[in-house]
Amino acid sequence: MPTKSALAHIPGPSALPVIGHTLTIARDSYGTQQDYIHRYGTVYKTNMLGVWRVNLCGADALERVLLDREQLFSSEGGWDALKRIYPGGLITLDFDHHRANRRIMQAAFRASAIRDYRLRMTGAMSDLLDSWPDDTPFDFYKAIKTLTLRIGGAVFMGLPLDGPLAQKVNRAIQDEIRASVALIRYPVPFTPMWHGVRGRDFLRETFRELIAERRATPGDDFFSQMCVARDDEGRGWTEDQILDQFNLLIMAAHDTTATALTVMMEALASHPDWQDRLAQEVAALGDAPLDEEALGKMTQTNNVFREALRLVPPVPFIPRQATRDFEWKGYTIPAGTSLALNPGVTMLSPELFTNPTTFDPDRFTPERAEDQSHRFAWTPFGGGAHKCIGMHFSGLQVKLFVATLLRKRRVQVAGPAPDWQRMPIPKPKGGLHLMLPRR
Ligand code: HEM
Repeated sequence: MPTKSALAHIPGPSALPVIGHTLTIARDSYGTQQDYIHRYGTVYKTNMLGVWRVNLCGADALERVLLDREQLFSSEGGWDALKRIYPGGLITLDFDHHRANRRIMQAAFRASAIRDYRLRMTGAMSDLLDSWPDDTPFDFYKAIKTLTLRIGGAVFMGLPLDGPLAQKVNRAIQDEIRASVALIRYPVPFTPMWHGVRGRDFLRETFRELIAERRATPGDDFFSQMCVARDDEGRGWTEDQILDQFNLLIMAAHDTTATALTVMMEALASHPDWQDRLAQEVAALGDAPLDEEALGKMTQTNNVFREALRLVPPVPFIPRQATRDFEWKGYTIPAGTSLALNPGVTMLSPELFTNPTTFDPDRFTPERAEDQSHRFAWTPFGGGAHKCIGMHFSGLQVKLFVATLLRKRRVQVAGPAPDWQRMPIPKPKGGLHLMLPRR
């Protein structure tokens, strides 16, 4: 890893000893980034707990690094914190090794498998939504995280929604997620990393026991599909690989979709015109089953989803590490440098989107197509070889949720507009308080 002196030519604010810019960035990560871009330009360095990082800002940098035509940018080096919890997980693999594993994972995302997951989700979602109160306010953020975890139990693992094992598994996943963004990256007893490592070990042992059974009689859940997944040449995964890949998959799927739905519900509660538009879109589907064809007609819902991901992206930073020296915007950046890309701030740039902080889903209509202003203007799912493999699945899940909810309920504000914490994982400080009365 390059020292401060190796990065002396890269501009950046002066840093406090040891903590560097950690506190400033944690307090207001977007405001701080916008300020640094204004002061130093789109290439600047920061220090988080002693580690120097070069920030490459804007859509051009996203394009160069994510497309990575020269195999210069390592995800393994970038996602070093995730590697401690998910060693071998797809997101932490590089280049040819990554491609070979992604081909196998792709088998769990083929159209027929997605159809089976949707069928599983439809019933589970309707049952769980019916259990939500219709006459008292509640914290939607907390409720949606529980709902997505419980649906995850059924769809991802083939476990009953309420069984004791599903609950233990869900607790372990939460511990892993907290650890994956922890500042202290060693499993010092009782820290989030320590809980996360224990959660991972519990999940590995639990799922290891199920592999033989699922290989013999695979179900229509993700875990079964990953146990039998093969690439075009018939190559599959060993037990340890299944456990690593599955563990990362459930983490990647969980908080991201829950965050997006929270932003969407806040927007629908505070923009009744948009809620009416989506309710009409859902009503136009009639009582038809919510299959791929019906969900495909929910274009306005899709635009609200895209706008929510632009305003509060669940993954606002994407890290990489330089494998060799490279040139960018007139700077030579040395091999080994930690790099941060910033899709979050880029998607709020006035050069790419008009009135960028305004909720305006129509910016995605074909007539306006603001997301096409640059190939990497709209990047909540990343891009290139590591582009989110669950992008289509998360869109299905979101549309299924919106249709199931708006068929029966209205969405009303029941508390102050939340202030969004952006780092390390976006969440509404104090929750999102809503009322969901019946229609
Ligand atoms: C709104 C929801 C979601 C968002 C915003 C999101 C965002 C992202 C982003 C930005 C990346 C790329 C990271 C990088 O380049 O380093 C990624 C990768 C990934 N996502 Fe998602 N994700 C979402 C939902 C899901 C779901 C539902 C699943 C699984 C069903 C999933 C599984 C994955 C996996 C396995 C990767 C690693 C892919 C690879 O390295 O090849 N994600 N996601």
